[in-house]
Amino acid sequence: MNNPSNFLLFAKELAKEAGAIHMKYFGNISSLEKKSSNIDLVTKADLESEKYIINKINKKFPNHSILAEESGYKNKENEYQWVIDPLDGTTNFTHNLPIFSVSIGLVKKDTGTICAVVYNPAADKCFYAEYGKGAYLNKKEIQCTSSNTLSESLLVTGFPYLHDKRYDISFDIFKNFYDKTRGLRRLGAASLDLCFVAMGRFDGFYEFELKPWDVCAGSLIATEAGASVTDWDNSELPHDGSRILASNGKIHSQMVDILTDKKYNIFFK
Ligand code: IPD
Ligand code: CA
Ligand code: CA
Repeated sequence: MNNPSNFLLFAKELAKEAGAIHMKYFGNISSLEKKSSNIDLVTKADLESEKYIINKINKKFPNHSILAEESGYKNKENEYQWVIDPLDGTTNFTHNLPIFSVSIGLVKKDTGTICAVVYNPAADKCFYAEYGKGAYLNKKEIQCTSSNTLSESLLVTGFPYLHDKRYDISFDIFKNFYDKTRGLRRLGAASLDLCFVAMGRFDGFYEFELKPWDVCAGSLIATEAGASVTDWDNSELPHDGSRILASNGKIHSQMVDILTDKKYNIFFK
């Protein structure tokens, strides 16, 4: 990337350092706690990674605000806010599956996400982007696919920890896509799902009930790689993560048609 900002250089270094914390514990988990339910986990690696990231941001940008998964909103009102998932894919991590990342996004007030890094330390894959400057994976520019139809597409999705009525209905959506595409995967790390759309491994991704830290960085990386990233009905992406649809653009309206089927309007209530 030409002229990376100091924000991006800082965020890349930080993501790699946090990734090194993950790898210190990967394959060697000694303690595990449960959060909202029995399947919503947090490990020492999540907590140590978050603490490290927050300390470093506070030192470098003492006035910036921070929204981080494990400790919530920190700091003062500021035009810049760092949105952090210290370890995305904790369930994979605890089962020694190398699909997890650290996700760091920087949001500028009235502009949106301007800088993003998602680092998958187990594969040493660093995805990054800045607003208007393209998306990269380990120094190489990346682009999403050009498939025109669902029938030639491979999609990815995910499911929330909360198993409510929408969760049940989401399996019908899953089946609907499964019938119309080459297949649908569930990898367990939303930030990487978005990066895999960006690099062309998947043609599209949709999910609901995510959080800002799951989508903040990955959605800029996907957009900068040429993807369309919106709400399920093609309106502006809700930054709280409540619904997200990311695709190569060409299959976007076909995905919107399914996701806005009136059978599924419970997702918009
Ligand atoms: C989870 C992952 C997963 C998604 C969950 C998220 P976590 O994040 O991104 O893919 O389906 O809804 O909560 O808990 O591993 O940081
Ligand atoms: Ca997450
Ligand atoms: Ca997490």
